[in-house]
Amino acid sequence: MYIGHMVYVCRQIKRVLRRDGTFWLNVSDSYNGSGGAGGDYGPGGLREGQPKYPGRKERNLQDGDLIMMPARLALALQADGWIVRNDNPWSKHPMPEPRKGWRHERPACPCVSELREKHIQSQMAEQGVDRHRIYDKAGTKFEPDPDCPNCHGSGRSGGHAFKDESWRHTRSHEFVFQLVKQRGYYSNSEIIKTPTGANPLSVIVAKRHNYSGKHFAVFPPGLVMPLVRASVPIRACSTCGKPWAPVIDRVQDEDGWVDFVSRYEATCSCKIVNNRAPRGESPDPEPGWVLDPFMGSGTTGLVAREFGVNFVGVDISFEYLDEQAKVRTRTGQPSKALDGLPMFDVGETS
Ligand SMILES: C[S@@+](CC[C@H](N)C(=O)[O-])C[C@H]1O[C@@H](n2cnc3c(N)ncnc32)[C@H](O)[C@@H]1O
Ligand SMILES: [Zn+2]
Ligand SMILES: [Zn+2]
Repeated sequence: MYIGHMVYVCRQIKRVLRRDGTFWLNVSDSYNGSGGAGGDYGPGGLREGQPKYPGRKERNLQDGDLIMMPARLALALQADGWIVRNDNPWSKHPMPEPRKGWRHERPACPCVSELREKHIQSQMAEQGVDRHRIYDKAGTKFEPDPDCPNCHGSGRSGGHAFKDESWRHTRSHEFVFQLVKQRGYYSNSEIIKTPTGANPLSVIVAKRHNYSGKHFAVFPPGLVMPLVRASVPIRACSTCGKPWAPVIDRVQDEDGWVDFVSRYEATCSCKIVNNRAPRGESPDPEPGWVLDPFMGSGTTGLVAREFGVNFVGVDISFEYLDEQAKVRTRTGQPSKALDGLPMFDVGETS
């Protein structure tokens, strides 16, 4: 179902993507039978207030089996005509996943959960909501009852019990696929070279980013920026849209010959045909376009604005769009890219 929907969404992307364009797609994985990305969604839990996704349960997989969703999706997209050029692992700051292995352990004493339950009941009465709606501002931690005769305040009852829990590494990566339509897709390697002139490596490590808005899964701009820079032209033909390309020239310095970008030039043969400019010249270039079909808080829009290219964003949630996406995406002048679009004229949602 997920793959079917994604293939369909990507087909719509393919419909509007230029033949020389790139589609960057971020996909993460999960475990069979687990609750979405994993995490504590309960009151006071780590992910309280975030949308809870139903756990996946694939019939042909066993419990605890990694679904391999990114790989399955990539295979389906290849079958649907996309070329997969990169499957970059994005090394990200993980959600804590305290996984333990085999051990003999003293079981947790019920006094801790009793205290927690008491707290929940009082909060329910105080806030007048049912249990999964409780907002625990204090993020209350529950210490064992110091007077508990069962555990004497240690939180662990007597006697050891054997537990064969199945440890695994804490997941700290997702995938970013580069999907293209043809081999000669536009790419600007000059602009994303490392300081030593090397090609960037496929494992993406982006600086953490603090975002104060409501959205729960915001990309760090450092993840998006190199991708946008490499695959969206600042200059493209204003007639046919074809990106301009850097002109590589050579100079000699004390270390020998070095390449450098002297300017950008058109790659199409469109010519100015009016008499305001000399005949035979390429028309003035325009910036290229970025489309983000899942724009969320608008990180991609922010990056597009900073880089100086045009942006169109879509999201299913008005809540996220209203809050910050528009602000983050908007340019100094009335934005050609966003404000004119019907989705922002709708105003209040019903
Ligand atoms: C992981 S977030 C994207 C975050 C974004 N890159 C950012 O930095 O803020 C995914 C977004 O996709 C949106 N979404 C989910 N399903 C969608 C759909 N069918 N059409 C459009 N947007 C959708 C969600 O509302 C959510 O904001
Ligand atoms: Zn106890
Ligand atoms: Zn042209």
